[in-house]
Amino acid sequence: MALVTFSNPEYRDKTVYAVAGSHTETLLKLARENKIPINYECEDGECGTCLVKVSSVDQKHQRMGGPLTEKEKEVLRVSGKISKEEMEQMIVDDIPSPWRLACQMIVRDEDILVEY
Ligand code: FES
Repeated sequence: MALVTFSNPEYRDKTVYAVAGSHTETLLKLARENKIPINYECEDGECGTCLVKVSSVDQKHQRMGGPLTEKEKEVLRVSGKISKEEMEQMIVDDIPSPWRLACQMIVRDEDILVEY
């Protein structure tokens, strides 16, 4: 069972359980189910509206979900959140990006903090 804490300066933090083992639920879907007001538009990794910052609060791991999808890579590069060089280094070092698109990131069995 993963604990996902949603944090925004304008709202009180809310921690919700993510169903472990399904590995198909996106962060955006989890947020909507729990009435977390994350902005979104396309729900298809195109617009970048659902950009969130994700960090692992599980000290044993530094996973933060699966790797970036191709759509996430493109949006993060175009928005200037991650440079091409940083992107390449992350791939080489197998380091997850702190910036994710909530509609693309699949929630894993990992405790995370999501800043939106
Ligand atoms: Fe458009 Fe996620 S809602 S990129």
